[in-house]
Amino acid sequence: MKIAICGKGGVGKSTVSAFLIKALLDKGRKVLAIDADPSPHLARLLGFDDSIITPIAQMKDLLNERSGRDGPFYNLNPKVDDLPEKFIKTKGDLSLMVLGAIQQGGAGCACADNAVLRNLLNRLLLSKDEDIVLDMEAGVEHLGRGTIANVDHILIVVQPYRGSVETAHKIDRLAKDLKVNSLHIVANNCQDEDDVHFIQQMCGRYPVGIFYQSPETRKAERQGKVITEADPQMVEVARQIISHLEKA
Ligand SMILES: Nc1ncnc2c1ncn2[C@@H]1O[C@H](COP(=O)(O)OP(=O)(O)O)[C@@H](O)[C@H]1O
Ligand SMILES: [Mg+2]
Repeated sequence: MKIAICGKGGVGKSTVSAFLIKALLDKGRKVLAIDADPSPHLARLLGFDDSIITPIAQMKDLLNERSGRDGPFYNLNPKVDDLPEKFIKTKGDLSLMVLGAIQQGGAGCACADNAVLRNLLNRLLLSKDEDIVLDMEAGVEHLGRGTIANVDHILIVVQPYRGSVETAHKIDRLAKDLKVNSLHIVANNCQDEDDVHFIQQMCGRYPVGIFYQSPETRKAERQGKVITEADPQMVEVARQIISHLEKA
């Protein structure tokens, strides 16, 4: 299945993505993780050496070549079929691709580079039969119809504060406009039942999974360790979410 993880900046998208990936790997599945956050750090959370990974957005020559930007126009549908495997790092059953951030402004048009990244992403979503976990940029607007239409489930990560719920509502509306059927709330960093109740009330539904505040995870992140080894309870919540999605 193909799962996109969305939500406001800092709510725990990458953390939740990492634990879902771990839960899928534990089930014996092959997983492709795609870090689509402009400040990517999923690699580190999963134990990849992030110093050897260059985000595709930083490969200017490649982006220029593929977008065909030499002339006065750029290609709206750049060729990317031959690219995916080249930029995927693999560790056992886990593969990772890092998209990175397109630089805005300057001489070049960011739209051209974005067209390449978007095509690449959609190509992967369509061509891969392994599970895909997509750690998204805050919001979903930039990804457009193609990408969202090609995922099976959208998880919106929410923390027990108003700002994160407001962003969740925006994402919810957008996803409904794009006719995504399987849309779920994931509560993160909750301290008690009150927090869960707040999220439930504000979102109008019960979360598909509830991650509590995890000092072990926080500590592992600070120490630059693989966070998914830190707290078995977080893995268990992720496992329950995956089972739920499988039945959805
Ligand atoms: N359930 C949790 N318990 C403790 N710390 C958490 C939890 N979820 C996230 N964090 C911490 O919050 C910070 C932001 O999380 P992150 O996953 O990077 O957010 P995002 O990807 O949405 O920007 C990180 O330092 C992470 O370790
Ligand atoms: Mg992140």
